[in-house]
Amino acid sequence: MGLDDIARKPHERLTAHLAGDMARVNALIRERMASEHAPRIPEVTAHLVEAGGKRLRPMLTLAAARLCGYEGEDHIRLAATVEFIHTATLLHDDVVDASAQRRGRPTANLLWDNKSSVLVGDYLFSRSFQLMVETGSLRVLDILSRASATIAEGEVLQLTASQDLRTDEAVYLKVIRGKTAALFSAATEVGGVIAGAPEAQIRALATYGDALGMAFQIVDDLLDYDGSSSVIGKDVGDDFRDRKLTLPVIKAVALASAEEMAFWRRVIEKGDQRDGDFGRALAIMDRHGTLEATRQDALGWAAKAKAALARLPSHELGEMLADLAGYVVARVS
Ligand code: IPE
Ligand code: IPE
Ligand code: MG
Ligand code: MG
Repeated sequence: MGLDDIARKPHERLTAHLAGDMARVNALIRERMASEHAPRIPEVTAHLVEAGGKRLRPMLTLAAARLCGYEGEDHIRLAATVEFIHTATLLHDDVVDASAQRRGRPTANLLWDNKSSVLVGDYLFSRSFQLMVETGSLRVLDILSRASATIAEGEVLQLTASQDLRTDEAVYLKVIRGKTAALFSAATEVGGVIAGAPEAQIRALATYGDALGMAFQIVDDLLDYDGSSSVIGKDVGDDFRDRKLTLPVIKAVALASAEEMAFWRRVIEKGDQRDGDFGRALAIMDRHGTLEATRQDALGWAAKAKAALARLPSHELGEMLADLAGYVVARVS
C-alpha cells in the first residue's frame, strides 16, 4: 500500500481499486438513463447522476463479485441496476421528505416538481428491472425485486411511525433495515451470487451488507442533527422538521423529564415548531448523550459487518470492505 492509498478514504481506495469496472458502470448508467421520447427524463436524471454521489452500493456489488473471483460481465449490469434502484428511491424520497437539497444541488422536486420526480423515479425503477433481466439469473431477480419491495415497505412504515412518540428502537430498526439496509445487503449478495460463490459466503456477504447499511443509516440520521449541510450536501434538520422518530430522538424521549416530554409532544406529535426548537432538541440530546449513544450503536453494527467478512476468502478487497465499515461510522459526508 503506497502513501497515496493510506491518505485516501476507504471508499476512495475501493473506487481506485475498482476504477476500471466503475467507469463501465457509469457509462452504462449514462446510456440507460436516457430516453428517446421524453426530454424531461434525461434532464432530471443528468441533474442527479452528474452530481455524483458516493456510488457506495454499486461499489459493494463490484467488490463482492471480484472478491469471490468473478471474471464475467454481469457484475457491471448489476452494479448499475443497484445504483438505478438507489437513484429512483432518492427521487421519491425527496418528494416524501419535501427535501430541498441533494448531493449539494437543489432537489429535482424543487427544480422541476413532485410529478417529475415521481415519474422519473418510476422510469429509473423500470430501467433497473430491464438491466437485471439481462443477467438471465432468476435468483438475482428474486433478490433485487424483493429488496425493492422491502425499501418501499420501510419508507411506508416510517411514514406511519413518524409523529408518533411511541415509536421505539425496534420499530426504528425495522424501518432502516427496510429503507436502507435491504439494498446494501442485496448489493453485496448479488455480487456473490453472480460469482457462483458457496452459499455460506453469499450469506456472509448479505450479512455484511445488512450490517453496513444499518450503520450507514444510523449515521445518516445522526448527521441530520449534528452534520454540516455544506459537507453532507443535504439540509440538516429535515428529520426534525418532518417529525421523524430517528434514533437520537427515540433515545432522548426514553430518558425525558416531564418538561422535556412536553417539548417532544409539542414539536413531534403536534408539529408546533418554533424558532430555536431545533437548538433546544440538540441541547436535550446533548444532556442525555443520545448522539453519542447513537454513534455507539452504529459502531456495533460496523463491528457486525466486519465480523461477517471473516467468513469470506482472504483478499485485499476484504480489507477494504472492513475499512469501509469503519468509514461509514466516522464519515461526515
Ligand atoms: C442516501 O444515500 C440515502 C440514504 C440511505 C441515507 P447515500 O448517502 O449513499 O447517497 P449518495 O448516492 O452518496 O448521494
Ligand atoms: C433514505 O432515507 C432512504 C431511501 C432513500 C429509501 P432518508 O430520507 O433518511 O435519507 P436522506 O437523508 O434523505 O438521504
Ligand atoms: Mg430523505
Ligand atoms: Mg426519507
